[in-house]
Amino acid sequence: MHAGGSARLRTSTLVVLALSLTVAATGCSNDSGQGGQVTVGIALPTRAQTRWINEGESMVKLFKDQGYATDLQYAADSVDKQVDQVEDMIARGDKVLIIGAVDGFELGDALQKAARAGVKVIAYDRLLLGSSNVDYYASFNNYRVGQLQAKYIIDKLGLKKGGNAGPYNIELFAGDANDNNVQGFFKGAMDTLYEYIKDGQLVVKSDQTRLSQVTIFKWDGEVAAETMETRLKDYYKGSSTVDAVLAPNDGIARGVIKALKGKGYGTSAKPMPIITGQDAEIESVREIIKGDQSMTVYKDTRKLAAVAAKMAEDLITNKRPEVNDTETNDNGNKIVPAYLLDPVGVDKSNYKKVLVESGYIKAADLN
Ligand code: BGC
Repeated sequence: MHAGGSARLRTSTLVVLALSLTVAATGCSNDSGQGGQVTVGIALPTRAQTRWINEGESMVKLFKDQGYATDLQYAADSVDKQVDQVEDMIARGDKVLIIGAVDGFELGDALQKAARAGVKVIAYDRLLLGSSNVDYYASFNNYRVGQLQAKYIIDKLGLKKGGNAGPYNIELFAGDANDNNVQGFFKGAMDTLYEYIKDGQLVVKSDQTRLSQVTIFKWDGEVAAETMETRLKDYYKGSSTVDAVLAPNDGIARGVIKALKGKGYGTSAKPMPIITGQDAEIESVREIIKGDQSMTVYKDTRKLAAVAAKMAEDLITNKRPEVNDTETNDNGNKIVPAYLLDPVGVDKSNYKKVLVESGYIKAADLN
């Protein structure tokens, strides 16, 4: 899909080269952004979570309002597809790329081509790894996401440091192994949960506590449902029940809920465990209102889209983008200057204020 833009440069590699030489020589972009001549490439990983669809749409709109054209592509969670899409964007002469990577490690060659062509690169939501050709990073504090999920579990179970509550049974899940954010989410959660597991207030009956044991391929809710079914069958025989589930996002939470319901959870005799989530997806907020999911972590993706769009515009107009973190996002090759937004924990008690009053979700969509 190519949104907007009339006189876009449809180019051969030669033109790209000529263009980048002009940029290098003059130190400024080829036009002022008037007339839709500058195109921003937006490469997003998937449409499987609604957030990416909304963010794609809102960035396209923000750029259009500023007079830029956009080139928005979704990779259907396929690394190969995304590499092709990004290379095509470079070949077409897009000026800045905003990339939400399927696999942060796999775009190195494409990023090198971008650098050679003078194309600036913004890592979107997920850090691009192992390459020096990443200019900026726009995301949320991912460690904090995991911390919010874990703290919620600890609070709701009433655990205290050094206490002797429980023991409560917990099962752990993480997102796709190739998504760099997963490390941050899981570390934030485990740094918080670990001491309670160690002192026996929390028990992981499946014994699956390492990240490599609990990742869910492509963040797929169906895979999560099957995984949870297997764990329930193998480790929760007789009267033993699950008290809490660390689910890293809403899609996985819904898969877990499906498996639990299949085993008779969700009644007063066998209540739902505490189940976390992330993304504040409408379907999951409905689950929270019903009481099947306990919480979600809200990330205002409208703000993230706006931060990335502003960064791109600054790069096009040779301004230095604003950042608030120049230390923590080491991609293995460089520390990528970043702007990180704060995530917010949401449950039944505050969803109206946080999600509805802010206009993120319409009240009517929750009925
Ligand atoms: C994002 C989450 C999202 C997940 C699956 C992560 O990188 O930060 O918001 O739920 O990918 O798309």
